Amino acid sequence: MGAPPAEQPLAGRRVVLGVCGGIAAYKAVEVCRRLVDAGAFVSPVLTEGATRFVGAVTFSALGSERARTSLFDDADPIPHTTLGRAADVVVVAPATARLLGAYAAGISDDLLTATLLATRAPVVVCPAMHTEMWEHPATRDNLALLVRRGVAVVPPGTGRLAGGDSGTGRLAGPDEIVAAVTAVLRGAAGDLAGRRVLVTAGGTREPIDAVRFIGNRSSGKQGHALADEAAARGATVTLVTTADRPSAPGVLVVRVDTAADMEQAVLAACADADVVVMAAAVADFRPKAPLDEKWKKADGVPDLVLEATTDILAAVSAGRRPGQVLVGFAAETSDVAAAAKAKLRAKHLDLVVGNDVSAPGAGFDSDTNAVVLVGADGTEQTVPLTEKREVARAVFDAVVPLTRSHP
Ligand code: CTP
Repeated sequence: MGAPPAEQPLAGRRVVLGVCGGIAAYKAVEVCRRLVDAGAFVSPVLTEGATRFVGAVTFSALGSERARTSLFDDADPIPHTTLGRAADVVVVAPATARLLGAYAAGISDDLLTATLLATRAPVVVCPAMHTEMWEHPATRDNLALLVRRGVAVVPPGTGRLAGGDSGTGRLAGPDEIVAAVTAVLRGAAGDLAGRRVLVTAGGTREPIDAVRFIGNRSSGKQGHALADEAAARGATVTLVTTADRPSAPGVLVVRVDTAADMEQAVLAACADADVVVMAAAVADFRPKAPLDEKWKKADGVPDLVLEATTDILAAVSAGRRPGQVLVGFAAETSDVAAAAKAKLRAKHLDLVVGNDVSAPGAGFDSDTNAVVLVGADGTEQTVPLTEKREVARAVFDAVVPLTRSHP
């Protein structure tokens, strides 16, 4: 079977379209039609609230089969598992604050929430609600939790809302939603299947004596999100990390502490890696002669003599095998894109993720990040403040075409 024609990117794919009870439910009618136009087999599932805004018959007419509204269906005693198992993707548009809360908490009290729990397919949520609800910490936390679990979010736009209000909370446009569904399916089909990906994460610790070290504020969250994302896309992943954080099942974790440990682990694993992503904050300098014992105050102020560590990424780049894709990070506090470009050239990389670590909500220890992706082909893509898993998704969206050019 060849690739589907460009105008039917969802040909043969089964999409469950969940519709919640918000005024934007009327826009879901257009989303349903566009998904069908894109070739998908669309099974509409409406919450009770949704049916107050739009009749189920509208979705039955436009979808690929009759719209379902209840867990208790005479024709199928377990519609949630039937739908959840058959789905290639579940998309919820609009997703209300209630739906996000129920899904995050694992509550399955209607057909849509039960289907979301019963599926192993990727899920895309497209929130729409009033600005106050969108900005409420409960909604933010629920969404962040869902993103960390791998749920894709098509964020709402700004504009007119119900009741004559305006602000952030408007359902994303149907084109954007269909594009997100297409991209998620591409990822879920394993666009990194058969690829070996090496990711580094965290900040190295360089001992001064038996109890003290020189370190940095890197938490490892971005690197771990990258490893999880690569695994979700089908890659065989090795994660060399300093951080005690969980990672997705199947990721091979190598725990290290110092730059020298990391160098050894990376050089051992990189020989057969197709993609190397150096997200770790590696110390550039380390104490030249760390003490085995604790330095005592009574011994006076120590003279700390530092020496340079190996630039691991530069070493990988120098010994890179043909086709290997190398991604570096640039943690900066100003002129991020320019610094990223300079690092890209200096280390002969394919992509540099420029990160303004001084920006609010971005960088070290935050759950969110905002980056600019600078490619060797001169492209620059800004990823505005979002969950680190979403940043990881954008990084691999940029990496995958580079791996394709190297079969
Ligand atoms: N890196 C590395 N080995 C080091 C230092 C950095 O592999 N000893 C990697 C980082 O993981 C990151 C990239 O190189 O992917 C960062 O580039 P670099 O220019 O070394 O960043 P800084 O160390 O922050 O340099 P500068 O202080 O000059 O900005």
